[in-house]
Amino acid sequence: MTRIGWATDIHLSVCTDEIRQQFYDEVRLTNVDALWIGGDIGEADNIEDLLTELLTAVETKVYFVLGNHDFYFGSIHKVREAASQFCERFENAVYLSCSQVQEVTPGIGLVGHDGWADGRFGNYETSMIMMNDYRHIQELSRFGKLERWDYLKEQGDLAASHLREVLPEAMQRYGEVYVVTHVPPLQDACWYEGQTADDQWAPHFTCKAVGDALLEVAAQYRDTKLSVLCGHTHSPGICHPAPNVTIYTDGAEYEHPRLSRVIELE
Ligand SMILES: [Fe+2]
Ligand SMILES: [Fe+2]
Repeated sequence: MTRIGWATDIHLSVCTDEIRQQFYDEVRLTNVDALWIGGDIGEADNIEDLLTELLTAVETKVYFVLGNHDFYFGSIHKVREAASQFCERFENAVYLSCSQVQEVTPGIGLVGHDGWADGRFGNYETSMIMMNDYRHIQELSRFGKLERWDYLKEQGDLAASHLREVLPEAMQRYGEVYVVTHVPPLQDACWYEGQTADDQWAPHFTCKAVGDALLEVAAQYRDTKLSVLCGHTHSPGICHPAPNVTIYTDGAEYEHPRLSRVIELE
């Protein structure tokens, strides 16, 4: 039996030392074989320190993707670069956005990517939502609304192209595959207080490019079970967009980081 801890949107940078330690204790005492983290760990200027602290404290291998908050007060490009270099220094850390297929058990594989809300679901043009992302992330803060839309789509496409590269191999090799990502890949997987996102919110909380990639690849490997783990909305829900695909979106609460669930794998 392999036991995996999954956590998302832990926002460690807004927690006191004591609360962070409680979370690390929870992970360590749960005795998991690995921890999977779905992004929104900290912000650009503290993410490396937080990952170092977490890795030392949890005493298990950590596979992670980054969320939009991890780039706040910095640049997407630079933080991704730093995360990838970080994993060269720490053999217990794997940044899935830069990684090939990972073997969880002989029958189960893992891939992942940050994803990015790409403005394609819902109605971006009429949406009045102004995300903090658009003010606090270097690459996004320089754009007006329409130029920003192009950039969001490019980021979505980048995430999808990574998954199109690694997912077919994983689906072919294993009977079951997990995808860890930050942003819900479908509007039906984008939950908020028990409802799915409306057309105002969906553009900023879903990654259609990743959703399209997942469903296309899953349709080619119908005998392989695909489970997608995401967060970002801080509100939980489950969606089954295809017979072999389930998308689990987990909730989260600022200042209360926790394990979303322990996944037990044969
Ligand atoms: Fe979050
Ligand atoms: Fe987020």
